Amino acid sequence: MRLIICKNYNEASCWAANYIAGRIKNFAARADKPFVLGLPTGSSPLGIYREFRSLYEKRQLSFTNVITFNMDEYVGLDAGHPQSYRRFMMENLFNHVDIDKGNIHILNGMAEDLTAECRAYEESIRACGGIELFVGGMGSDGHIAFNEPGSSLHSRTRVKTLTRDTKIANARFFDGDPDKVPSTALTVGVGTVMDAREVLIIVSGHSKARALHAVIEEGVNHLWTLSCLQMHQRAIIVCDEDATDELKVGTVRYFKEIETSVAERKG
Ligand code: GLP
Repeated sequence: MRLIICKNYNEASCWAANYIAGRIKNFAARADKPFVLGLPTGSSPLGIYREFRSLYEKRQLSFTNVITFNMDEYVGLDAGHPQSYRRFMMENLFNHVDIDKGNIHILNGMAEDLTAECRAYEESIRACGGIELFVGGMGSDGHIAFNEPGSSLHSRTRVKTLTRDTKIANARFFDGDPDKVPSTALTVGVGTVMDAREVLIIVSGHSKARALHAVIEEGVNHLWTLSCLQMHQRAIIVCDEDATDELKVGTVRYFKEIETSVAERKG
């Protein structure tokens, strides 16, 4: 695992966005060889999406032949609901770039048969050749997507009941009222994320520091589901300095030294 420590959120967002843009560019996607990108919602990726828009405007990034799969969606919110993740993605990214709208995949939380919706989602990912790069954020309890503490580390896309912690954290988008946050969501599983050929997670702020410590410095643990990354062969966490507040000095130094030597090797 790489841990990229940036000075602040803005720098972390730019690093991540430029890394992802570079991966897309170097992949040289074609219609018969699309780049399959997993995407998150939440506050954490907003800086990445802002940077994507800017790179696109400068013609340094194109979403032609990019296929996207979003991580999760609330159950019971229609696509037009101001807090639906579909609307979030349209407003923050998809409406502003050259992605073919047919290449966008977001779970439908209004589906009549939610289990069938989740099964079909997994099948679509497989049919596209699997996810090349899954981008994600992290909850302050260390969850990835909506894989709440206690989720199976082998889980697949499914319906998940949200914890009180998550409802309180997301209440800021629902008039500050946790009871207005939907109680269930559709989410890719930990196993779905782990199947991606590469995973990049953006983490920012002191409120994520305890979780980052658990995810990086403690063992793989279903109570901190992002700790699954320890088992991934190609994983990157990009964070700001505030998020490292609970890491050991030695851990921070080690990961910084790795990046310095990577940079030196590149010359
Ligand atoms: C929700 C989302 C996650 C996201 C997390 C953190 O639970 N399902 O994908 O990573 O919130 O959100 P934020 O980035 O707003 O802190």
